[in-house]
Amino acid sequence: MEISIMNFKGGQGKTTIALNLAYTLDYGVVANESYTVLKNHLDEDHLLIATGQITDEFDDVIYDFGGGITPHMATVLKRSKVVIIPFIVEQANVEVTIEAINSVVALNDNIILVPNKIKEDDKDYAVMLETLQEFGFDKLPISPLRTSTALQNIFIDHKTISAMQAEGGLNGFNYRKINDDFNKLIELIKSYK
Ligand SMILES: Nc1ncnc2c1ncn2[C@@H]1O[C@H](COP(=O)(O)OP(=O)(O)OP(=O)(O)O)[C@@H](O)[C@H]1O
Ligand SMILES: [Mg+2]
Repeated sequence: MEISIMNFKGGQGKTTIALNLAYTLDYGVVANESYTVLKNHLDEDHLLIATGQITDEFDDVIYDFGGGITPHMATVLKRSKVVIIPFIVEQANVEVTIEAINSVVALNDNIILVPNKIKEDDKDYAVMLETLQEFGFDKLPISPLRTSTALQNIFIDHKTISAMQAEGGLNGFNYRKINDDFNKLIELIKSYK
């Protein structure tokens, strides 16, 4: 299954989500940047291509796509089973994300929106939902992720959130909710198989 993760804007959680999904599903990752932090976090078997090349060599793969849509990217976005669009819910990010959604729907309807770094009682979340409605994107599947140090610890521990949570102790307690968030996203992704 080919899964694309994209947003035009940086810092929205694309690479973090790609890494946790790759660890969880045992997928390879293709990054479209010549330098990717994934180099330090995936072994040779799993970091498939880091130069923006597109390949037909792999069946189970996650594309970590930043920046504008190149013709190569468009090819992959079209044929992906699902395109995940992560975004931070503050307005400036939401505006760029609307542009990203607009560009993807022209290629692929199977989109999952992942509002990211949600806080408790997040006022921006409600505003974001209104913006989606305004642009007619409120019917797209949505799978939010809360703010959690678990996301940063994936890069340190090289484990899935689920594995960190299962170890118990403080992480077992603190990572319950983010683990639930991520499991919901994974179930949603699997429903596109
Ligand atoms: N839910 C979250 N809670 C806390 N921190 C998060 C969360 N999601 C992502 N982060 C952090 O936000 C930062 C940006 O995430 P990431 O590098 O995945 O974004 P990106 O979209 O791949 O950016 P770029 O386009 O620059 O590659 C990272 O430091 C990551 O650990
Ligand atoms: Mg990245």
